[in-house]
Amino acid sequence: MTHIAIVTGAGTGIGAAIATRLAARGDTVILFGRRADRLEAVAKTINGTAIVNPGDVRNREDVLAAVTRAEELGGLTHLVNNAGIMPIAPMKHANSDDWRDTLEVNVLGALHTIEAALPGMRSRASGHIVNISSVAGRNPFPGAAVYSASKAALDSLSEGLRAEAAADHKRGGPAIRVTTISPGAVTTNLTESIRDEQTRAGTEAYYDNMRAVLSPDDIANAVMYAVEQPPRVCVSEIVLRPTEMIR
Ligand SMILES: NC(=O)c1ccc[n+]([C@@H]2O[C@H](COP(=O)([O-])OP(=O)(O)OC[C@H]3O[C@@H](n4cnc5c(N)ncnc54)[C@H](OP(=O)(O)O)[C@@H]3O)[C@@H](O)[C@H]2O)c1
Repeated sequence: MTHIAIVTGAGTGIGAAIATRLAARGDTVILFGRRADRLEAVAKTINGTAIVNPGDVRNREDVLAAVTRAEELGGLTHLVNNAGIMPIAPMKHANSDDWRDTLEVNVLGALHTIEAALPGMRSRASGHIVNISSVAGRNPFPGAAVYSASKAALDSLSEGLRAEAAADHKRGGPAIRVTTISPGAVTTNLTESIRDEQTRAGTEAYYDNMRAVLSPDDIANAVMYAVEQPPRVCVSEIVLRPTEMIR
């Protein structure tokens, strides 16, 4: 059976690495993100089948169009919710626009894709949803309360969906697997979304001062481990940190 995957935020960083690895094993991968040029650049480097599908996870129509495309190709088998932003700043510098954006992309964005993906997966009685969260969801760090809260929400909805799917499957329903992957610090351009100068400098220094930060491919390895298990195995959670990262 051909796998058909959607990876959100596939134009850069962790999403690009995941899309590359899924395509290399033979999946048809739909690359989703706002910047078409980034998606095109990744598609060119992919050894396999990659389809560029620009869109914004905050927009239900964009998400539905990508899922419809996957359904037309034979049916969505894998959804990787990776798109995320981290415009962090201390709460005393209240910026409700950044707070809203964080929750809209990191939480509602994932809900939009799940809403669009579930009917097809359920009708075919199988599917796998992978949510890229963060260790910040379990260990909120100072200056990142809202980002951490968004990832804690993603953890809860991911585990809640897994438990619901398991209960359905126990009663003879579809076998839908859900995996939450929580990385610590990874070398990407995520800090570009930080608009608070001091927080951005502090965060970049935190990454720079680590002996070895995780690479996007380290996270892709974790995704591949989860998706390559036999159908009886649902890898619920993977947490991975740089070896020297304390929390
Ligand atoms: N880097 C880390 O240390 C780290 C640690 C733990 C967890 N994570 C998580 O890993 C995920 C990937 O981040 P990354 O580190 O690879 O950073 P990144 O390179 O900045 O990737 C984020 C991706 O999300 C996409 N995106 C942002 N807003 C979007 C929207 N509204 N609609 C669709 N796509 C959107 C971006 O593309 P466009 O701007 O083109 O849309 C970009 O490709 C995020 O969920 C992040 O929270 C990262």
